[in-house]
Amino acid sequence: MTTDIRGHRLSAEEARSQLEAGLEHYRSRTKQMFAALNDDDVHRQHDSIMSPLVWDLGHVGNFEELWLLRRLDGRPAHDSRLDQMYNPFDNPRWRRGDLPLLDRNEALEYIDEVRGDVLEIVKSSDLDPSNPLMRDGYVFRMVIQHEAQHQETILQALDLRDDLPPYSLGGDRSIATTRTVDDTERIAIPGGRFLQGTDDTTEGYDNERPRHPVELEAFAIDRFPVTNRRYAEFIEAEGYERPDLWTSDGWDWRSGLDVEAPQGWTRRIGGGWLLRRFGRVVDLDPAEPVQHVSYHEAEAFARFAGGRLPTEAEWEKAATWGPEATTPSVYPWGSAAPSAALANVGSLALGPSPVGSFPSGASAYGVEQLLGDVYEWTSSPFAGYPGFASFPYPEYSEAFFDDSEFRVLRGASWATSTDVTRSTFRNWDYRIRRQIFSGMRLAWDAT
Ligand code: AVJ
Ligand code: FE
Repeated sequence: MTTDIRGHRLSAEEARSQLEAGLEHYRSRTKQMFAALNDDDVHRQHDSIMSPLVWDLGHVGNFEELWLLRRLDGRPAHDSRLDQMYNPFDNPRWRRGDLPLLDRNEALEYIDEVRGDVLEIVKSSDLDPSNPLMRDGYVFRMVIQHEAQHQETILQALDLRDDLPPYSLGGDRSIATTRTVDDTERIAIPGGRFLQGTDDTTEGYDNERPRHPVELEAFAIDRFPVTNRRYAEFIEAEGYERPDLWTSDGWDWRSGLDVEAPQGWTRRIGGGWLLRRFGRVVDLDPAEPVQHVSYHEAEAFARFAGGRLPTEAEWEKAATWGPEATTPSVYPWGSAAPSAALANVGSLALGPSPVGSFPSGASAYGVEQLLGDVYEWTSSPFAGYPGFASFPYPEYSEAFFDDSEFRVLRGASWATSTDVTRSTFRNWDYRIRRQIFSGMRLAWDAT
């Protein structure tokens, strides 16, 4: 018997076919994404902060080879030059455009070859409970999540382009709501102890463990992510011209790049804003969560509004805890797997959905859209929880701990796959980054 993060018990046979289906589901999505792009789109490095997309493609296959064929089954290297080329630490993003990468056809051939061997291994795997890599299929889920995360990275690179021909990546469903909500509504969260993190070893990353008690003061948190409407008020009030609203690092960043609005915003002649999104220019929807802001912008907005960014513990308590809780829930709404009725994840749409769109996805405290739409900046640097142990490799999390440049983002974006969506998930990035699908929600000290 094995289990999943939602506590479902599965026979080994069911687990194997679920893992096989997961691997194949994300692979077909990868192929669908690349099929929509021409050779130049795939090979060119669109921006020095992102990899050429064909690097992501080869890297996904190389990661799978390293973990599932070599580590698990002791097979020889396909070609050891690939290990060097697709190692993210040996090759920072800005240098990846200069590598002699496999071209798209070679990369597709390579990942197919790896996958063929991997499927045999899944089929015959005993999911040996005494091996923490194998137990409950952990290492297979890690490889599945890895490919899914790189799909989000690829979308970030594409959304940076202003010369992208408008095209569909298959996720152009628009999400609307007829519900009228107050986008400034706050929810009071009582002080006291809650349990942060998870002890799940079926899909959670090492940085989400172990579960540990945290004592918090009472605070309030926005019911919804900060909307474009609220953020536009900050711009109209000359928030980008007022150094008093920014930290000195933030002001240096804003001034150095002459930033005047979130990525993708352009002023419309005659007033208001337009938004460029995947090659399409659309009217800015005031009810959508603001997206593509850096930590510095999130912090300046918070100061302008009189609030602050939540700590990640506050965010997580609002998401997983509740008035009657004795144990955290896996998702804000409970333990049902994410679906289109609960959250905007998995590229249903190619952007965030208006606030108020997912009342049934609310947490027990009534906080909405915690998962989906946009990742939310928190004030917390990225560090290990008390009792953290690196597993199965230090380069996923530990290598990024204690760097004052990083801040944690919580939740999930519209581009996050359902298999990477959970309330304990921790994302992180440099404070200056905003090509990620990032927004925020504010916290408020209890008065
Ligand atoms: C968790 C999104 C910060 O992209 O650096 C992909 C995910 N780790 N391959 C990243 C990841 C290894 C990671 N983030
Ligand atoms: Fe990776």
